[in-house]
Amino acid sequence: MSLYEDIVNHKEKLSLVGLGYVGMPIAVSFADKIDVIGFDINAEKIEKYKAGFDPTNEVGNDRIKNSKVDFTSDETRLKEAKFHIVAVPTPVNPDHTPDLTPVEGASRVLGRNLTKGSIVVYESTVYPGVTEDICVPILEKESGLKCGVDFKVGYSPERINPGDKVHRLETIIKIVSGMDEDTLEEIANVYSLVVEAGVYRAESIKVAEAAKVIENSQRDINIAFMNELSMIFNKMNIDTQAVLKAAGTKWNFLPFRPGLVGGHCIGVDPYYLTYKAEQLGYHSQIILSGRRINDDMGKYVAESLVKNLIRAEAPIRNAKVAILGFTFKENCPDTRNTKVIDIVNELREYGIEPVIADPEADAAEAEALYGIKFTDMKDIKDCDAVILAVQHDVFAEFTPADFDKMYKTEDAHQKILSDVKGILDRKTYENAGYIYWRL
Ligand SMILES: NC(=O)c1ccc[n+]([C@@H]2O[C@H](COP(=O)([O-])OP(=O)(O)OC[C@H]3O[C@@H](n4cnc5c(N)ncnc54)[C@H](O)[C@@H]3O)[C@@H](O)[C@H]2O)c1
Repeated sequence: MSLYEDIVNHKEKLSLVGLGYVGMPIAVSFADKIDVIGFDINAEKIEKYKAGFDPTNEVGNDRIKNSKVDFTSDETRLKEAKFHIVAVPTPVNPDHTPDLTPVEGASRVLGRNLTKGSIVVYESTVYPGVTEDICVPILEKESGLKCGVDFKVGYSPERINPGDKVHRLETIIKIVSGMDEDTLEEIANVYSLVVEAGVYRAESIKVAEAAKVIENSQRDINIAFMNELSMIFNKMNIDTQAVLKAAGTKWNFLPFRPGLVGGHCIGVDPYYLTYKAEQLGYHSQIILSGRRINDDMGKYVAESLVKNLIRAEAPIRNAKVAILGFTFKENCPDTRNTKVIDIVNELREYGIEPVIADPEADAAEAEALYGIKFTDMKDIKDCDAVILAVQHDVFAEFTPADFDKMYKTEDAHQKILSDVKGILDRKTYENAGYIYWRL
């Protein structure tokens, strides 16, 4: 009897280690079919899930309330499961080197509670080699078991896109890999229970690890190219979006757009690859220049706004600037690694303390991480300039009348609107007398 059959027949359980934006939706999805233990070291988070509250907004309160996931912060409960999925964070240190502390910590927790016959699958984004060269030795040391004999490992990168209700776990082809053919089949079968789009069997764990890290590096480099174009075309007084629209009529022109690159994936994963490359004596040329461009875009947005204040003959110091949107991406409450903070910090250098509103963001998190208190949308008024920083759906519905209310009426100069992602119609605002700017 295979482990897969035992799991399907409810004789064995699956565990999720790390229940964040990635792990929690996976646990909830599997729990519709099989027995799932959901473990996280954050006891507070576990209590929220148990109470039927989904702070990530990924599955919603109702689904979590009705889910059969056995949520726990007691690591010994992991002994009850034989198929483990690890989805803990993989951030970078301030010097941009990989911070493997959570992956190593999760491996220790799992190792202490690992039983013979188990399969451990890592989902966290890593550089090629982390699963076999870093995690396996920890699992072996903590468990006293031998990999390949007493337990097996695999790797299956996660491609979900927080806030995206179309590309979900069920609808995205999932790469799976295993240390040998049998393990690969077990892992493929287990994921096929929930991934309707099907699985892709990578030829090795390292291939699967590498595939994930280059998917995001490719995006990062392409966005960096768009950002560079935007800086060039701004100097030429040409609208970048209009250029991209025209070029996009060619069949093989790729539809990327300029923008801020924050979050835990696109702005971080390339550093995992370049770190490993550097250990092997190769110094990245393309990947790291893309990173540098993207990392500087918040500063560029702020500087462009200041130039527009000067153009409008508005005072710079203590100008009233509102920033709409603070999360690292649209329609998602997550503010960690947001690049909007770079706009805020750069404006502060000019003596401007912006007011910030974000009806989608996790306000408690923003206050805890950045000391920022959001202003209510209805209290955004008397502004010299407004920066539309995040493409939330709620903002895309705004009309010129909605924006008009946000600006000062006394001693008024031309209204300045920075539409970072270019979601509004440029001509409408220019015709209404705005100084309209976008990347
Ligand atoms: N969020 C995304 O968009 C996304 C998409 C694809 C891949 N990924 C990758 O998936 C991984 C997880 O990302 P996330 O966004 O879910 O992170 P997250 O920060 O939302 O959640 C991670 C969870 O792991 C928990 N945790 C940390 N250390 C632990 C340990 N030792 N034992 C048990 N739990 C522990 C944390 O408490 C947290 O709840 C990362 O490697 C990320 O790069 C993320």
